[in-house]
Amino acid sequence: MSNQNSLSRNQFLKVVGVTLAASTLTCSGLGYAATRSPQIATPELTLEKDTTMNSRILVTYATRAGSTVEIATAIAETLSQRGFSADVKPVKEMPSLAGYQAVIVGSAIRMGNWLPEAVDFIKANQAALNELPVSLFTVHMLNTEEDETSRANRLAYLNVVRPLLNQAEEVFFAGKFDFSRLSFVDRLIAKMVKAVEADKRDWEKIKQWAKAIEI
Ligand SMILES: Cc1cc2nc3c(=O)[nH]c(=O)nc-3n(C[C@H](O)[C@H](O)[C@H](O)COP(=O)(O)O)c2cc1C
Repeated sequence: MSNQNSLSRNQFLKVVGVTLAASTLTCSGLGYAATRSPQIATPELTLEKDTTMNSRILVTYATRAGSTVEIATAIAETLSQRGFSADVKPVKEMPSLAGYQAVIVGSAIRMGNWLPEAVDFIKANQAALNELPVSLFTVHMLNTEEDETSRANRLAYLNVVRPLLNQAEEVFFAGKFDFSRLSFVDRLIAKMVKAVEADKRDWEKIKQWAKAIEI
């Protein structure tokens, strides 16, 4: 939520306050418990197609609370229905790009940014990615409206990543707030910005996108 346009000044100051309080906790040694997230699975999955197409697609994702993994899986399932083989892999494991015809990279948004491991993956593989068709999907809860401000705010989520790639298809998917999957500090931040628990993922939109992407 560094994108302050999407927050009121008061909300922003509260978030800063919570972040400072979290830093103090961390320094005092209590921070580990406060910032520790519940165990979130980061599964790998392979959908193998025995076709003559010989085309394999990597769907790699970065998540904190798990909703982005489920979106990555839905994308891979749709690609599989299109006749591709698809591998779903966590980006934090820095999957190799060897053998892929196209790459789809997805990240959850935290505090206005892609997760650092997803940015690191793009940086580490910049040259190879620029030789392949690349699509980026972003999972977020704010700035989901169709007005100009909302659109500009969500486009800004890719300000760090976009300049690294010559050309990449971009899509934005509404995500999920599930407080039971957040650390104490993250839950506090979510409540400070008046987030309510909700699953806004539009599976039809996700599948339609995966059906239509050019590979
Ligand atoms: C601490 C925190 C900060 C967040 N910051 C933003 C943000 O700046 N902008 C936004 O649109 N969504 C934000 N979100 C919402 C997440 O992007 C959304 O819940 C997403 O579905 C999380 O994906 P994940 O379950 O894969 O981690 C934030 C969520 C949390 C818990």
